[in-house]
Amino acid sequence: MPDAHSRQPQYTTDNLTSLQSHILAEEQRHPGATGDFSWILSAIALAAKVIANKVRGARIQDVLGDIGETNVHGEKQQKLDVIANEIIARCLGDRANISVLASEEDEHPTVLRDRAEGGRYCVLFDPLDGSSNIDFGVGVGTIFSVLRNDRLKPRDVPHHIQPGSRQVAAGYILYGSSVIFVLTTGNGVDMFVHDHSIGTFVLVDRGIRIPESNKIYSINEAYCNTFPEGYRNYLDWAHDEGYSSRYIGSMVADVHRTLLKGGVFLYPPTKAHPEGKLRLMYEANPMAMIMDQAGGKALAGSERILDIRPTDLHQRTSVIMGSPREVDHVVRHLDSS
Ligand code: AHG
Ligand code: MN
Ligand code: MN
Repeated sequence: MPDAHSRQPQYTTDNLTSLQSHILAEEQRHPGATGDFSWILSAIALAAKVIANKVRGARIQDVLGDIGETNVHGEKQQKLDVIANEIIARCLGDRANISVLASEEDEHPTVLRDRAEGGRYCVLFDPLDGSSNIDFGVGVGTIFSVLRNDRLKPRDVPHHIQPGSRQVAAGYILYGSSVIFVLTTGNGVDMFVHDHSIGTFVLVDRGIRIPESNKIYSINEAYCNTFPEGYRNYLDWAHDEGYSSRYIGSMVADVHRTLLKGGVFLYPPTKAHPEGKLRLMYEANPMAMIMDQAGGKALAGSERILDIRPTDLHQRTSVIMGSPREVDHVVRHLDSS
């Protein structure tokens, strides 16, 4: 038992810490911090609460189903995709330090202000992930990535097109049986749950570490005939090894389970999506930062997702992420095919 003098101050679930106070405390650890960051994260938390409310009331308020149009990716837009996108734009639009807002649902980013006008950050997001599940009460989410508006970038390169390794914060909100906010600012991964009775996200776990291994794979196995050979070999091996399969079809929900329980989440190249289906800038990169900060791994084939040099806001990538030993098992099969 450590004595009182050797004990390090710790957050525990006995103390009640809100997301807001947690962010302020984090900022105070960085000398020279301007508080900019807490403005952005508080806007994201506000948007999350408004979206959670919409998701919860979707059937009652008649906002289920698609709007009869497709987005930039040629995918059916659900009513709630559009609503969630608008909510985020409204909640983040007046934050004076945001330069660029970019979304899965918009072909072009919205430039709110440039650096000279105080726009220090770019925020990229998937407003509603897993939205095709929305009509059935399945967990859906919001994913976000925060990048600095880099003053060193050449003028002709859009400021929001940066590798994931440059993210200063990333996270997701899962609208499931409870509303869960998972955040990293590059100092580990913390988890908050929304307490409806007080309208606040409260800290429930700090410094989350993904289990080293667990025999669970999460993949849309129905496409396996069109996966590259290495993935098929991996699945054959996993079947023989007694693995279990879990696939919800909402990245946020599948990655969240993988983070807490261990295993591996995969979206390989397929015939329909030879580069992979998931979007690098606002799906794969933020989730890769979370995995990295939790001691996991996140790869696109043999390359670290965070090291990919992006060229386009909406580019796609394949994904292998999760427990380090489970990712290694996949890679071993890719290498030997
Ligand atoms: P979104 O709803 O934002 O377009 O994301 C779709 C996703 C992702 O949540 C999930 O992992 C994947 O699409 C599922 O794709 P399949 O239906 O092809 O398995
Ligand atoms: Mn998505
Ligand atoms: Mn989406």
